[in-house]
Amino acid sequence: MGETTEQQDQKPGRPAAGPVTLTTERLVLRAPQESDVDAIHQACQDEEIQRWTVVPVPYRREDAEFFVHDLAANGWRTGDAPVWCVFERESGALVGAQGLTRNPGRTGTAEIGWWATKEHRGRGYTVEAARAVARYGLTELGLRRLEWVAYVGNEPSRAVAGKVGFRMEGTLRSYAEQRGRFHDAWIGALLATDLAGADGRTEPAG
Ligand SMILES: CC(C)(COP(=O)(O)OP(=O)(O)OC[C@H]1O[C@@H](n2cnc3c(N)ncnc32)[C@H](O)[C@@H]1OP(=O)(O)O)[C@@H](O)C(=O)NCCC(=O)NCCS
Repeated sequence: MGETTEQQDQKPGRPAAGPVTLTTERLVLRAPQESDVDAIHQACQDEEIQRWTVVPVPYRREDAEFFVHDLAANGWRTGDAPVWCVFERESGALVGAQGLTRNPGRTGTAEIGWWATKEHRGRGYTVEAARAVARYGLTELGLRRLEWVAYVGNEPSRAVAGKVGFRMEGTLRSYAEQRGRFHDAWIGALLATDLAGADGRTEPAG
């Protein structure tokens, strides 16, 4: 799919010194920056994003500022939570976000997360972006196991995970906290050893 990764000073098992940009056929994934705040603020007004993720509700402009300047910046600085804004190459429009969060205490594992802007859903963009992020995590970062966790009932996210090649592993009861409330969650995983082919591509298994 012609994906590329731009990075410098890579250390084994840790992200590069600075944010990494990933490029796919139709998309560019790069670290969030100040100029993205308004588009992120707008995107996160969406009821589905608020229903299925941990974004603050109501979602204010300050929340988007915090996401860019604190959460994302620290995630890259520590290497524990790289996060990307996803853009359509053709138009430059923000179409979603992707992130990896290392699981504290479980070496070599991380959780993947994503959302798509309401206007750009149903085009396969989340699958395309998630493939690049999963491949980056399982190859460049040397992760052994990448987990997808979603509140029970999130069929769109489950469909994306399935297409990327995550194997469903079950339901975790009262597992995922969202704004002070605990949800049962589906869990799936993609292992480095699941990657199809010797070139490390994350094609769906089957
Ligand atoms: C989940 C989400 C990111 C999917 O984004 P998307 O860009 O529409 O996904 P894609 O276009 O890549 O869809 C890939 C597949 O998912 C499936 N899918 C997408 N929307 C779906 C829906 N509403 N119901 C069932 N399946 C759906 C389709 O099978 C699609 O495959 P197709 O190309 O064969 O039709 C988006 O719905 C979203 O942002 N939801 C709110 C936030 C969220 O739930 N985040 C995940 C938390 S775990």
